[in-house]
Amino acid sequence: MASQISLPLLLFLLLSISSADDSAIMTKLSTSLSSPPPDWTGTSYCQWSGINCDNSNKVTSISLSTKSISGSLPSEISQLSQLKTLALQRNKLSGTIPSFANLTSLQEIFLDSNDFTSVPQDFLLGLPNLHTFTLSDNFHLAPWQIPGYLIESTNLGTFAASNSSIFGTIPDFFGSLPTFQHLRLSYNNMTGGLPKSFGGSQIQDLWLNNQQSGGLSGGIDVLSDMSQLSQVWLHANAFTGPVPDLSKCENLFDLQLRDNLLTGVLPPSLTELPKLVNISLQNNKLQGPFPEFKSGVKFEVEKTKSNSFCLDSPGPCDPQVNVLLEIARGFGYPRSLAESWTGNNACDKWTFVTCDSAGKSVTVLNFPKQHFSGTISPAFANLTSLRNLLLNENDLTGVIPEILTTLNQLVVLDVSNNNLSGPVPVFKPTVRFTSTGNPFLGKNIGGGDGKSPGTGSDSGTPAGGAPGESKGNSTSGGMIAGVVIAVLVFVGVVLFVSYKCYVKKRHRRFGRVQSPEEGKEMAIGNVMTSNNGYGGTKSELQSQSSGDHTEMPVFEGGNVVISVQVLRQVTDNFNEKNILGRGGFGVVYKGELHDGTQIAVKRMESGVMGTKGLNEFQAEIAVLTKVRHRHLVALLGYCINGNERLLVYEYMPQGTLSQHLFECQELGYPPLSWKQRVTIALDVARGVEYLHSLAQSSFIHRDLKPSNILLGDDMRAKVADFGLVKNAPDGKYSVETRLAGTFGYLAPEYAATGRVTTKVDVYAFGVVLMEIITGRKALDETMPDERSHLVTWFRRVVINKDSIRKAMDQTLDPDEETFDNICRVAELAGHCTAREPYQRPDMGHAVNVLGPLVEQWKPSRPEEEDSYGIDLHMSLPQALERWQSDEGTSSMNDISFGQTYSSIPSKPSGFADTFDSMDCR
Ligand SMILES: *[C@@H]1O[C@H](CO)[C@@H](O)[C@H](O)[C@H]1NC(C)=O
Ligand SMILES: *[C@@H]1O[C@H](CO)[C@@H](O)[C@H](O)[C@H]1NC(C)=O
Ligand SMILES: *[C@@H]1O[C@H](CO)[C@@H](O)[C@H](O)[C@H]1NC(C)=O
Ligand SMILES: *[C@@H]1O[C@H](CO)[C@@H](O)[C@H](O)[C@H]1NC(C)=O
Ligand SMILES: *[C@@H]1O[C@H](CO)[C@@H](O)[C@H](O)[C@H]1NC(C)=O
Ligand SMILES: *[C@@H]1O[C@H](CO)[C@@H](O)[C@H](O)[C@H]1NC(C)=O
Repeated sequence: MASQISLPLLLFLLLSISSADDSAIMTKLSTSLSSPPPDWTGTSYCQWSGINCDNSNKVTSISLSTKSISGSLPSEISQLSQLKTLALQRNKLSGTIPSFANLTSLQEIFLDSNDFTSVPQDFLLGLPNLHTFTLSDNFHLAPWQIPGYLIESTNLGTFAASNSSIFGTIPDFFGSLPTFQHLRLSYNNMTGGLPKSFGGSQIQDLWLNNQQSGGLSGGIDVLSDMSQLSQVWLHANAFTGPVPDLSKCENLFDLQLRDNLLTGVLPPSLTELPKLVNISLQNNKLQGPFPEFKSGVKFEVEKTKSNSFCLDSPGPCDPQVNVLLEIARGFGYPRSLAESWTGNNACDKWTFVTCDSAGKSVTVLNFPKQHFSGTISPAFANLTSLRNLLLNENDLTGVIPEILTTLNQLVVLDVSNNNLSGPVPVFKPTVRFTSTGNPFLGKNIGGGDGKSPGTGSDSGTPAGGAPGESKGNSTSGGMIAGVVIAVLVFVGVVLFVSYKCYVKKRHRRFGRVQSPEEGKEMAIGNVMTSNNGYGGTKSELQSQSSGDHTEMPVFEGGNVVISVQVLRQVTDNFNEKNILGRGGFGVVYKGELHDGTQIAVKRMESGVMGTKGLNEFQAEIAVLTKVRHRHLVALLGYCINGNERLLVYEYMPQGTLSQHLFECQELGYPPLSWKQRVTIALDVARGVEYLHSLAQSSFIHRDLKPSNILLGDDMRAKVADFGLVKNAPDGKYSVETRLAGTFGYLAPEYAATGRVTTKVDVYAFGVVLMEIITGRKALDETMPDERSHLVTWFRRVVINKDSIRKAMDQTLDPDEETFDNICRVAELAGHCTAREPYQRPDMGHAVNVLGPLVEQWKPSRPEEEDSYGIDLHMSLPQALERWQSDEGTSSMNDISFGQTYSSIPSKPSGFADTFDSMDCR
């Protein structure tokens, strides 16, 4: 309401600022520095040393690094509207850092090695072009946290703030910024773990060492999915668990893991990393064989014996030690075992272990009440002298390995009071076997989440996950489908009616304020977000005006209100010929902005949808402003005007996966190759995994299907249409008030009860996989009844390799290796569409299965956009401008072209020096 009044005022202010030159601001800057450069006198500030201006005398860069300047920065800097570069590193500046909010041109801020004392809260808000930010070595800063709104700075490549009093956790959005590469946060007070979303990110250097406040904690598994890593400094923290397999990190040259609480056996691939030069591991609790690195690798050896390797030099461990370590692996290498199980003789005072009188063979393992989680390793069966095995009162899951029945000496086996499942093995009558207190034991739960090592229980045939179930399907697939649909319709009607009432009540709380002039509208963001119950960061609360300005900053910042006039213009008044497609909630048009950028405009059908559409619309905006990921379609702007509701998306030139799979003949597309299909599947899995694991809140898509999967010119996929996304609660499931989705992709429990979990998306993903394999639609009315429902048919028919060959899309014509991959994807599809939600894996598992299949085809030439050290998100003129402005400031070259720096690590210069002296001691 206040913004209604201040809109004209705001515009006036903006205009008056931009018409004045920067003279007053620069004079102010000159006086607040206590020792400015000698030539900073007079009024021709564009000639002052270190200053660059554009044609209209607006300051574009201020470069004064290493000039012994003291004093402070005036808040007026925030009015240098054309400022692109601010380089003030290595001086003695102090005081509060001024706010840079809304300096939309700003690309680089270098403030490291100064003596600033505080950081204003919103100082980096609204900087869509920010590429580099450095603030390291400002030791006297008051404690601050990394602001979450930086997710809006989608061009961010470098965030370096070591030794600068940061506390709190590492925000997870860094992993989703498409060009983010350098994260340097050493010597702060940060806590918590590595965000899961870092997997699949472009991050190259990850400097998180020496957190002062107890350190970062949790496992470091996510490193194995960060394939772009080159330098990893995690030393002097409190990380736990084993070192993951890093064989995907082919560029890793520097791995600092010393002084943590890491346990477990090192993955054999660690010593084979092709680029590895420096590695440190001392002061952990690592177990198993001492590693032997290639010559040329600088491996910091133990000064005092600080790990739990079986020997002090390379060489194999004793076989019995190996077996016990394999058992420990089942428990996730708990710290208690890592501390006590040292040396190469398991009979030498290892806790929980008792040996025979000769001191050779383990006879008793006593693990009750140890809070062990994980699984019971089949390796227990290798301890052939084992008599007593006590595992009671722990948190073990998975199955009791059948092979334990081969232990001939076994007398006592107690697994009571855990959470074991699966079949109960039959032991000899001489074994005293106790298994009470495991509610799921004897019920077939299958392989769990597939993560538990060594259970060996999930190697069934593609559709063989649950044999009893597929039998049920085959006898009465059609009947079940009928019942499901009937229930669905009934539930739908009931829910729709109650939903209507609900919406009527809620609707009054929405607000949309018309500005005084016709055709200019204001969307009040906070009203929308509060309706959806999202936390709502500052950036979502911004209200923005719009008008007929053709200079509308459509691509700057998060969501932007765009006037309906502009959208009419770019779509040729929503001309039929620009229609890209029609969805359940509206029509999508193609548009072209004056600068040639192509966009997709989704126009909601207001008449049809009524209030439901409005709700949908608001849900979509609120979600999309939060969500940024390479494999999710980006929302560029939106518009509300009367009944008109429009969303502006990035344009995906190759249309939908549905078109490529089912209509390629009509549309003249070549059929998708298997490589393209599996790559698309992986992209989708990554996108959905991101949705599911978003740090603050998890999202469920609920309408995943090929027509919501869009393709770019490189045939890489992005998931679209979050209109149905609902914020998932913290708990495992929610009972939804409304059913949404598309027949053919609905998980059975969702259709029957409306209960929504992330497993609903996993199911739909499984259906998409089946469509990708077979080229057939999820529901095909033209087929005979028993074949019309793809899932039922697929799970029944595809039980061996021969039938897969018959069922798959006949355009594929695979060679042996490719066919093998198809079978694996078919198997995954089977798991994903398991009847019970808990039998389905999570999306992370799908990513893990599909990842290696795509890798096999990786071209020898690097394919990703960031591989050349040139930021392709810049236009050519922008890039040229940047190179010019960088000339003469040699210390910045390293940073502007981060890739250059990291590919010649032996010659760090300038910026990097600071860190070498700081961290490598
Ligand atoms: C930045 O712009 C937004 C919206 O235009 C406004 O609400 C906010 O006050 C501005 N911040 C500053 C520091 O100027
Ligand atoms: C942190 O920065 C200060 C200068 O601000 C420097 O004196 C100190 O050595 C740095 N600490 C580390 C650990 O590098
Ligand atoms: C960081 O933590 C250390 C140790 O707990 C403490 O001495 C220091 O004051 C903290 N610094 C800040 C800026 O919070
Ligand atoms: C390896 O570490 C040594 C000393 O710690 C350092 O001098 C050298 O530059 C490092 N090499 C690389 C490639 O990081
Ligand atoms: C256990 O025994 C099996 C069969 O003899 C063998 O393949 C396996 O490597 C052994 N496991 C360990 C950890 O020694
Ligand atoms: C036990 O396992 C089942 C599935 O196997 C799971 O649903 C349940 O939450 C687990 N219970 C506990 C207490 O961990």
